Amino acid sequence: MTVQIDHALEEIRRFRPSPEFAAQAVADDGLYEAAKADRVGFWADRARELLTWEKPFTRTLDWSNPPFAKWFDDGELNVAVNCLDRHVEAGLGDRVAIHFEGEPGDSRDITYAELTDEVKRAANVLEGLGVGEGDRVAIYLPMIPEAVVSMLAVARIGAIHSVVFGGFSSDSLASRIDDAEAKLVITADGGYRKGRVFPLKPTVDEAISKSAGSVEKVLVVKRTGNEVGVEAGRDVWWHDTVAGASGEHAPKAFGAEHPLFILYTSGTTGKPKGVVHSSGGYLTQAAFTHKNVFDLHPETDVYWCTADVGWITGHSYVVYGPLANAATQVLYEGTPDTPHPGRWWEIVEKYKVSILYTAPTAIRSFMKLGRQIPHQFNLRSLRLLGSVGEPINPEAWIWYRHVIGGGSIPVVDTWWQTETGAIMISALPGITDLKPGSAQVPIPGISIDILSDDGTPVEGEDGGLLVITEPWPSMLRGIWGDPERFKETYWEKFGDKYFAGDGARRDEDGDIWLLGRVDDVMNVSGHRLSTAEIESSLVAHPWTAEAAVVGATDETTGQAVVAFVILKQSQAEAAQADTAAASEELRKHVATQIGAIARPRQVFIVNELPKTRSGKIMRRLLRDLAEGRQIGDTTTLADTSIMQIISEQVK
Ligand code: WT7
Repeated sequence: MTVQIDHALEEIRRFRPSPEFAAQAVADDGLYEAAKADRVGFWADRARELLTWEKPFTRTLDWSNPPFAKWFDDGELNVAVNCLDRHVEAGLGDRVAIHFEGEPGDSRDITYAELTDEVKRAANVLEGLGVGEGDRVAIYLPMIPEAVVSMLAVARIGAIHSVVFGGFSSDSLASRIDDAEAKLVITADGGYRKGRVFPLKPTVDEAISKSAGSVEKVLVVKRTGNEVGVEAGRDVWWHDTVAGASGEHAPKAFGAEHPLFILYTSGTTGKPKGVVHSSGGYLTQAAFTHKNVFDLHPETDVYWCTADVGWITGHSYVVYGPLANAATQVLYEGTPDTPHPGRWWEIVEKYKVSILYTAPTAIRSFMKLGRQIPHQFNLRSLRLLGSVGEPINPEAWIWYRHVIGGGSIPVVDTWWQTETGAIMISALPGITDLKPGSAQVPIPGISIDILSDDGTPVEGEDGGLLVITEPWPSMLRGIWGDPERFKETYWEKFGDKYFAGDGARRDEDGDIWLLGRVDDVMNVSGHRLSTAEIESSLVAHPWTAEAAVVGATDETTGQAVVAFVILKQSQAEAAQADTAAASEELRKHVATQIGAIARPRQVFIVNELPKTRSGKIMRRLLRDLAEGRQIGDTTTLADTSIMQIISEQVK
């Protein structure tokens, strides 16, 4: 199996939608035509058709002050009401919103009426704890229904959530609490993962003790029943408060531009960026794409997105898109291989999942295990498959379609980012001829181009940098507290065109192929990691003198973190005897400082790093080494023999 992108570009297979699928498809060609005729008007129609507005908007787009866009800005709505109350009012209260499946095997179905009731009670509790409009709430929970309830309760009262993935360390949590000055943290005693309890509350306690002091209250869900410390006056239990709270909660309407959430993501510097999303524009595009890209028939489909709510995919395609569309979905707490490697397929069979949305890295790990595992289960309910997070190599695409999908159902590869808020490039099932390995075409109403480094559009079959040329409803509204960084990161390079940070190529049919990041951002298992952030973590260890990190191609995870570290003189001698122990210590250190997802696959202890005459580390050469390739051009190195020496040491 190969995951080389170059190889993907030679892919020539095309798959026509089956006539049966096309006949029942939600999307139709008219969407492209409507968007082409009047792009802004197209989005106004979608916003009116898909959402319920307390106060209708009269202005669609204000782009008078780029890069700060406003969509539907004189309109008012309540996002939680759009995801809950209005469905109950429409008579859908008995529809299952969430089939929850816990890792230990406990399960629970929650209807729209029950979810609405729980969110109202939680909203009352949050207000009782002093949280109001515009306040920030950090959410640090496992994949349990209370995570969804918390997000919607925060949205309902006009507060702003900042969900922090439960795998992040106390340092990472503390820096996110501080940056947003969160008033409340919602957490759990623990969660289940790989058959074990992972404690969350102690990490929150640690984070708060390291933080600057904005946190007033901590709301704790009891999930695992492990012992946790409770700080009187600060900590309150969910079951003591939410269960007994009033189920009456009158929702207020908020402006369409009111911030809905902050979500931190890695950039090219060490400090994560707090990406800010809006209410009306965000929800419009999340709902539109969820419906059309996944061909959602909410009366009959059972949808499952395997992402954690700690990432943008979980925000847009577990919480906001599906619930705005009144979908029935599966929420699974645990890992794919616990307690057995067929767990996901068992879940598909149990709930008759019809739409599955996951990441290439997961598909590739299943490929490694072989088709006999999924084949033990009845997967015939599946009728659409989606992929997100990184380019899906054609081999994985074909395997996904054949082994999981039975050979004839659509596979959509969706390109987007934390910053774009919702899907931007994807085939529309039933309409687009599918091409394995390519994300294909911008969705209706989205304008994409490929530019060369000097900003000129590349013509025809050629490669360059991916840009978004017109504002879109779910675009980030900025970086929390840092408008300068917002401008610098995305808008400095090409003026009023949004620079995505990805390389891309257009083929002879005009389809777009994503080629990976062009900056110092790595993509490990579909998650974004910054080389600078991991380097600063390594340098913070007392043994480290200098460190360089690269993302090396990895068969399963897409890229893997590989670090090259020079130890301080005092450590060097001891470590010489046992480099294995030194690199293990450093791998662990990164996992503790940032989170397990950032743990390097390898840490090589070296005496030198390749640098240019001006002292810049040439990561390109280290990547050649990490990927076992012939070392590239070394003529700009200050000392051209260095790579020879480093190669010897790495061996
Ligand atoms: C980066 C964004 C969007 C949710 C998951 C990741 C890469 C994402 C694809 C795809 C090729 C993709 C890009 C992008 N990426 N989806 N279908 N094909 N590359 O969100 O953490 O904000 O990362 O993921 O490099 O810039 P994120």
